[in-house]
Amino acid sequence: MLKFKSIISRFLAIFFVTTLSVYSQADGTVITIKSDDNAPVINKHIYGHFAEHLGRCIYDGFFVGDNSEIPNTNGVRNDIVEALKKLQIPNLRWPGGCFADTYHWKDGIGPLDQRPTIVNTWWGGVTEDNSFGTHDFLNMCELLGAEPYLSGNIGSGTVQEFADWVQYTNFAGKSPMSDLRKENGREKPWKVKYWGMGNEAWGCGGNMTAEYYANEYRKYATFVTDWENTGSVARIASGASSDDYHWTETLMKNVPAKMLEGVALHHYSVIDWNNKGESVDFTEDQYFGTMSEALKMEELVTKHSAIMDKYDPAKKIDLVVDEWGGWYDVEKGSNPGFLYQQNTMRDAVLAGATLNIFNNHADRVRMANLAQCVNVLQAVILTKEAKMILTPTYHVMEMYKVHQDAKLIPIKFVSPLYIYNNKSLPALNVSASKDSKGLVHVSMVNVDSKKENKVEIDLNELGVKNITAKVLTSKTLQDHNSFDNPTKIQPADYKGFEVKKGKLIVTIPPFSVIVVEGK
Ligand code: AHR
Repeated sequence: MLKFKSIISRFLAIFFVTTLSVYSQADGTVITIKSDDNAPVINKHIYGHFAEHLGRCIYDGFFVGDNSEIPNTNGVRNDIVEALKKLQIPNLRWPGGCFADTYHWKDGIGPLDQRPTIVNTWWGGVTEDNSFGTHDFLNMCELLGAEPYLSGNIGSGTVQEFADWVQYTNFAGKSPMSDLRKENGREKPWKVKYWGMGNEAWGCGGNMTAEYYANEYRKYATFVTDWENTGSVARIASGASSDDYHWTETLMKNVPAKMLEGVALHHYSVIDWNNKGESVDFTEDQYFGTMSEALKMEELVTKHSAIMDKYDPAKKIDLVVDEWGGWYDVEKGSNPGFLYQQNTMRDAVLAGATLNIFNNHADRVRMANLAQCVNVLQAVILTKEAKMILTPTYHVMEMYKVHQDAKLIPIKFVSPLYIYNNKSLPALNVSASKDSKGLVHVSMVNVDSKKENKVEIDLNELGVKNITAKVLTSKTLQDHNSFDNPTKIQPADYKGFEVKKGKLIVTIPPFSVIVVEGK
């Protein structure tokens, strides 16, 4: 027995010495990163956007009309189109949001002077003249090279109206709706694949229970088909709000898998719905609160995916996070119903961390839409008359576009903590992928507001030798791009790394986003 004990203690001593020496050799948090043939591809649609008839997103945002002095193509601003093409935006969701369940698509087609005006009840009670409709949106998507994602009206529409919209946009043959489309000047169908089956059916989309909506869904899904039986239409069910797991469970249990291509999820990083705080003038306490809500996305997609796994173990149905982002008080003096807010380094950190979470869950999260694209909530673009600025969130999206359709590389690490006021969050947030040309990209976010963090990556495991990096950082968390100083925050080449004995050691400054490229 004694002999056995001494063998054990000798073994433990060796184990601890070895472990300690591994730790003492490490120059920061060790990230284990190794390609895996079975890892999923990161669907480019995770990098999607959202454009609602809300505030200045469409009117006085994307769309200025073809009489505007601002350079435009059929009324759509050329500078916005160029900026979004550079992002390679894969898809754009429209026309809402809450607006979708009040929208009757036939109001927005045909001669302009015959289109009715309506009141946008959800967003500021403004009059909507329907001058931007189906043709305008779908043609704009063609300009952008983005796939349209149309949200249909289940809350206040009819099955017939929804089915007609699909026939109008998608049917090539002769039919009442394709004839109408041709009369309105469009011969070829647009072939829209992604269809949202209502929006927030638990709230602005009709205040339905999960059980009631599941039944409604089955009815609508029966008639929302591609009219040509090619199975090319993807129906995305209105999904849960944040941690409403009952919603996902009810849908998955009650809707046959063959009627369901995607289940949505909405989660906004809001500290307190009654006191959201300002978008620029925020405290560290508010920053910590926003980041706690943002990092909750990890738990949300894990738990919603686990429910989906029970009913769909082959993972055929997509989890579609079609609204996410930071939501603060509107800018002082602006219309409270327009949800216009500035965008700071806090939003860059939020975006980088959320996109890393989506990448790492690419086996189930196959689409997502940042809310929203222009002039609303966590926008990538802000406009003021003829001026346009790109926000820190835009730059994160641009740095991360390398992950679109690249193969995920699984990673493992134990994050150091960002400690604030006796509370803590994981400080580091990382994802990695290998693209079709063999380039490896590792995107890293340091959430800590004060402390830099170092990471160490074994380059031999990655099979790359030459490293370059880009960083998005600034002096303060509140820094942002403004119409007077539009390029204060921009990605820059980064040299804060070294390669030592086959290991890459990267120093990540506080509240910064870094993308490393390895060849
Ligand atoms: O993005 C703003 C609003 O937030 C959307 O219209 C709605 O779906 C959500 O509640």
